[in-house]
Amino acid sequence: MSALLDIELDSRAVQTEPEIPVASVSGQKIFIETYGCQMNVSDTELMLGILKQSGYTFAPRPEDADVIVLNTCAIREHAEERIRGRLGQLRRLKYQRPDLIMGVSGCMAKHVSESLMNDAPYVDLVVGPDSYRRLPELIAEARGDSALDVRLDRGEYYMDIDPLREEGSNAWITIMRGCDKFCTFCIVPYVRGRERSVPAREIVRQARAAANAGFREVTLLGQTVNSYRDSTCDFADLLSMIARIDGISRIRFTSPHPSDFSEKFIETMAREKKICRFIHLPVQSGSDRVLKAMKRSYTVEEYLALVDDLRNAIPDLCLSTDIIAGFSGETQTDFEATLALMAQVRYDSAFMFKYSARKGTVAFREMPDTVPEEEKAQRLETIIAQQNRISGEINATYIGRTLEVLVQGDARKGEGLAVGKSDGFKTVVFPREGVANNALTDVEITQTTLRTLTGRKVQ
Ligand code: SAH
Ligand code: SF4
Ligand code: F3S
Repeated sequence: MSALLDIELDSRAVQTEPEIPVASVSGQKIFIETYGCQMNVSDTELMLGILKQSGYTFAPRPEDADVIVLNTCAIREHAEERIRGRLGQLRRLKYQRPDLIMGVSGCMAKHVSESLMNDAPYVDLVVGPDSYRRLPELIAEARGDSALDVRLDRGEYYMDIDPLREEGSNAWITIMRGCDKFCTFCIVPYVRGRERSVPAREIVRQARAAANAGFREVTLLGQTVNSYRDSTCDFADLLSMIARIDGISRIRFTSPHPSDFSEKFIETMAREKKICRFIHLPVQSGSDRVLKAMKRSYTVEEYLALVDDLRNAIPDLCLSTDIIAGFSGETQTDFEATLALMAQVRYDSAFMFKYSARKGTVAFREMPDTVPEEEKAQRLETIIAQQNRISGEINATYIGRTLEVLVQGDARKGEGLAVGKSDGFKTVVFPREGVANNALTDVEITQTTLRTLTGRKVQ
């Protein structure tokens, strides 16, 4: 996850009947394609929930839809380029069927709202992350003329809406929206607005509903998820409350910020067995100079002390991270410091990116993008090669161990193989031998690669 971030999901294909058919949209079909991080995945489920209430049904393919929405990401230039490419592909559908509504939602919708409709005049609908409640109304508006609403609203928590969750074992629950950290490279605070915590009672309501619907795992989402606080509780209290819900076997969260951990949180995580032994702990760089320029609010020493505290309190903890290669002003020495930090921490896995200057951020305005593209690519390659070696070495130590696996589905490769996740978020593949999806089963690991552990069910 972020960190699970930067995943791209397949288009959603959910076939359901509307609960309350509304005459004007009866039979209208919507298709939403999701880009970006889990917050967007969760927002797509929210939009589908809102649209279902309004009488929409869901199209399995864009070709079958009356309304197409791309739920977009703006984190790097590449993310926006891909969406422009996808819009270009879908344009032919609009020419074939002028009644088709083409929409863009999410972070890119907010980031480039002004130019989007000019650059792609076939886009009828632009909707930002705080305007999804108005989606049915905006679609209706777009049938006449174009419709745009990208206002940010610090009072929008999307209370009392039931998301239409993708089937599976995990339910995403957004517990915070926005971000107040303003790291100098990052577009998120500008496109998602101010940080706000969803009231705990709403989160507990959603977690209970997910458990009743058969989800065994919940993943709590926020850009700095561990700075969660409402008037009654903090993040540690929230985790304890969710751990008391019957039917939920596993709790995950992403992404915590290294500066927002408390002793109380660490004690809670050590105590509550339902909280998975995995933390995505984005570091970004191993150089204090670069961390300062990024406004990350921790030093390498503080970060390493945190890793020690977490590992001492939580045996078997697995860690992943995010790294940016070639940030403005990053020297060869800074880059080597990142390699050294990664070698010292030995993350189980990492998401690694080339720095992409984002219009609107402090770094874009004030810090020249000094590292040439080829140099960034070279540094990224070196970082990836080192991480791959470490991931492979760590995974090899799992041979002979037995892990409890939450089964997610069929493995992509191999007849009769199932795939699931361990507590530490390792991908585990094994011969299914009758084990159902969403079951917890013990698997003894016999073989490993840098991405996958393979094993057999313990009889
Ligand atoms: N809130 C999370 C990160 C969200 S964005 C956190 O603070 O950890 C996910 C990741 O994308 C970031 O951790 C960072 O590594 C990467 N990222 C964000 N902006 C970027 C940019 N302008 N260029 C390259 N990578 C970026
Ligand atoms: Fe972006 Fe920093 Fe907020 Fe993460 S904490 S979303 S990197 S501004
Ligand atoms: Fe997520 Fe991309 Fe927005 S990473 S918060 S979808 S900019």
